[in-house]
Amino acid sequence: MQETIPVSKFWAMAITSTTGAKAPAITPRAVSGSGVFHQKTPGFEVEGAYAPPAYLQKYYWWTYVHPAAVRIFERQWLIDLILWGNYESLREAALDEFGAELPGATLQIACVYGDLSARIAERAKAGGGTLDVVDALPVQLKNLRAKLPDDAPVSLTVSSSDSLAFADASFDRVLLFFLLHEMPRDVREATLAHALRVLKPGGKLVIVDYAKPRLWHPARWIWYPVIGRLEPFAKELWSNDLRLFMPEAWRNARMQRSSFFGGLYQKVVLEKGVAPASDISPRALDASIAAA
Ligand SMILES: C[S@@+](CC[C@H](N)C(=O)[O-])C[C@H]1O[C@@H](n2cnc3c(N)ncnc32)[C@H](O)[C@@H]1O
Repeated sequence: MQETIPVSKFWAMAITSTTGAKAPAITPRAVSGSGVFHQKTPGFEVEGAYAPPAYLQKYYWWTYVHPAAVRIFERQWLIDLILWGNYESLREAALDEFGAELPGATLQIACVYGDLSARIAERAKAGGGTLDVVDALPVQLKNLRAKLPDDAPVSLTVSSSDSLAFADASFDRVLLFFLLHEMPRDVREATLAHALRVLKPGGKLVIVDYAKPRLWHPARWIWYPVIGRLEPFAKELWSNDLRLFMPEAWRNARMQRSSFFGGLYQKVVLEKGVAPASDISPRALDASIAAA
């Protein structure tokens, strides 16, 4: 069972764990073992061997894993503040890429605080389509469900993004909103490989995330050390083109990249046209994940 702690103790633990001390042992659920668990709404009861990725527990327990974290961070103004006032423009940039009505199947990989998913769900409903949201943490999916109207055409699945069980080419569009910077490289690569695998030919992958700000940008000097401390994997997105983390077959695919807020944020859009020359069969994909 999740232990209940006062908010003051929660912050004390958060500060200690982000200053290098060992993260406190908080078990998000009474589960043991590791593996993959996939479950659609409405239950979220995780049975059998499922454990969320270890890096979430270690680095992000205080932002996503702990129920107190969800209560604290589920405030759009706070997320907007963390994004230096850019939440709305980044959310709209992602939504505009998909359009006002979303027929067919849309996949959002990982929950986000704020109203992004509710807005996608509205557009899916308007277009007669569906939205699938996958997250590694049941607590995040429960939080999302509470933000959605009952008739939203949304399915929620507990799964890590590096082991999606959806069939190949089953989605018309896939969104990764501020997820990739939170992951160790192997998980990031596998996540991108799966996002591309489940996308239909002709479908669109939209990624919104951190990038390297321009030299003059104060965030480069102020934010970098902070992010470096709080989000140990984020630096890799500051220093590398996102393509580096894609399966080799997709690195030369046509992509559009837009910059926001002096380069601190980026939107990358990949339209899955004709499959690239190299083989993108599930076997090739597994091999590229294994080789990473
Ligand atoms: C999308 S990210 C960051 C979003 C951003 N901070 C915001 O709220 O706007 C946060 C979510 O990613 C989820 N997540 C992290 N690693 C994951 C993984 N490997 N598979 C699925 N979900 C993951 C976390 O559980 C959390 O719900």
